[in-house]
Formats: sequence, C-alpha cells, structure tokens
Amino acid sequence: MNLDQYLSEAAAIEREGTAALSAATDVDALEAARVAFLGDRQGRLKSLQESLKVVSKEDKPAAGKRFNEARAHLQSLHDERKTVLGRARQVGAKEDLSLPERRAWKGAKHPVTLVIEEIEGIFRELGFTVAQGPEAETEWYNFGALNFPPNHPALDAHDTLYLEGGGLLRTHTSPVQVRTLQRYAPPIRVLIPGTVYRRDFFDASHAPAFAQIEGLCVDEGISFVDLKSTLNLFAERFFGASRTRFRPSFFPFTEPSAEMDVQCGICGGSGCPACKGTGWIEILGSGMVHPAVLEAAGLDPERYSGWAFGMGPARIAISRYGIPDIRILYDSDVRFLEQIAGPVLSGAEG
Ligand code: PHE
Repeated sequence: MNLDQYLSEAAAIEREGTAALSAATDVDALEAARVAFLGDRQGRLKSLQESLKVVSKEDKPAAGKRFNEARAHLQSLHDERKTVLGRARQVGAKEDLSLPERRAWKGAKHPVTLVIEEIEGIFRELGFTVAQGPEAETEWYNFGALNFPPNHPALDAHDTLYLEGGGLLRTHTSPVQVRTLQRYAPPIRVLIPGTVYRRDFFDASHAPAFAQIEGLCVDEGISFVDLKSTLNLFAERFFGASRTRFRPSFFPFTEPSAEMDVQCGICGGSGCPACKGTGWIEILGSGMVHPAVLEAAGLDPERYSGWAFGMGPARIAISRYGIPDIRILYDSDVRFLEQIAGPVLSGAEG
C-alpha cells in the first residue's frame, strides 16, 4: 500500500466514523459506532493500524502520524458524545426539559402573625412584657373572676365550647389578666396574644377560632388618661396619623368601658367598603379594670387601678390588607400569603 492510498483510506475512515458517532442519538447507538470504528477487534481503525505494516519504511512516519490523528479525533468525538448522551439518559427521555424549574419553598409569615408581631413591637417599646395563658380554661377564670354574672348569655352553651369533664375553651384572652395579676405584683404591663374559641359559624366575618391580643396595665394611680393616651399612641404608630374615637361600651370586667375606633386609612374617613361606609374601623374593646376583678385576683382595689384592652388582629389584618373574606386567613394559600408577605418562593437562593 502506497502512502496516497493509506492517507485516503485514513480520511475515509475518519469521515465515516465522524458521521456514525455524530448520528448516534442514544448511548447504545454510540457504543455500536465505537465498536465499529474504535473497537480493538474488528474496528475500522484497528485494520488501518494493521495496514501500517504493509506501508514502506520511508512512508511509515507520515502514515503513522495520519493514523494517530484519525484515532485521536474519533476518540475525542466519542467521549464528548458519551457525556452528552449519558446526561440526557439520566434526565430521562419522558421529562419535559422546557418545564420551568420547581422553586424551593421558603415559607412566609401569616398576615395575622405579621400584625401580632408589629403590635408586640410597639407595646414592647412602651414597657410591656409579652405573656401567654392556657387555651383550655376553667369557668372561673374565663367568666367568674371577670365579674360575669352566672346568668350572662356568654356562658350559654350556644356561645361557648365546654369541655368534657369540666372546663371550656377560653372565649377571650381576658382570663390571662387574672392569671397575671395573681402571679406578679404591680406594676404590671403585659401584652397577651393567643387563640380564643367561640361557637360561631365559619362565615365571611366570623370564625370559631381566632386570635386576640389582650393588654393590661395595673399600678397605683392608673387612670383613664393612661388608657387613652397609650391606645392613641398605639393607633398613631400602627395605623399612621389616623384619628381615633372612643365610644362608651360595656364589659362585665371593665368600668367604664369603651370601644376604640380608628379613622379608616383607606378612605381617610369619607366612607368606603372597608369601613362599611362609616369612615371608622372598630379595633378594640377597653376599659378600666373592674374593682371586682382586682379583688378576685387578690389585689386591693383601693390601692391599685388599671386599664385593659382586647383586640382581634385578624380584623386588623383584614382592614389593613383589604382582605374581603376572613376565611382566606385560614386557607394558607401560598398565592395569597405571597401577596402580603412578599415572595415566599425563591429560585436563586432556594
Ligand atoms: N375580652 C373582650 C372581648 O373578647 C375584650 C376586652 C378586653 C374588653 C379587655 C375590655 C378589656 O370582647
């Protein structure tokens, strides 16, 4: 075999080998092409190598060099294709690579939690401590110690969830007022967030289980001025520069009692759906701690006085974020949480 013949044979093998390796669309076809061209036994390159023996001595270096080039080229093309096709096999033929990636769940704070934490922050700055009490209560803490008469309608089984074997699910966080007063000596400034239960239907504005935040301040010489100024400061901090108004109200455990309204931040007081056209949003019940409550907790009402309030952070969340139905707060739908807490899903960091 002369050099020209050898070189053109090498070129043909290289060209056909390139075509065969490139045409392979899966690892099995690639392996077949490898055996046909690079295989040790019957591979085309193997026979090209054998032919070197019949090339004349002076042509051998050039022929050998061409053989090495062809082999190196086909070998590297094979290795490259093997990596690509191997990766495709791992992914799996049925997977749709055009689907957007599934992003990692990062979680988000619930709107009611956001409201509670912000309120806690404001009252912490005013010297309040955050405390908790039990959700399963005794009738005495929930009603008796709070000066409810035994025939008060709130005690009715239509309103309150009683537990088997005595006790009940607390209908408000106010029993923790009494627990706190029994346990700590004045001066007391405490904020008590927690879940409460009522026998209510689950509709757009009611839920049988919901959050409340109780506030209590007891010391010598505390007056209604302290109540008003503290709650006004809170309203200013939480709702912006809104105006407030106090309306006379009644609770068995406060006297006098007042409900506080905040001027609607959405319409600025002119009336809109968020404030049901009134210009005001009712945010809390409050009042001076009834002497009977101080007495029930073992304090001398001649010496001590105090004020308390209770509010529903879900109601506040609803007006703040313009949520049309309270039940949305119980769904924990990511698409909803994302609108309020910001992006809860993240690709890059996830
Ligand atoms: N416990 C009352 C309620 O659930 C709210 C309240 C708390 C009122 C403290 C006055 C003082 O409606």
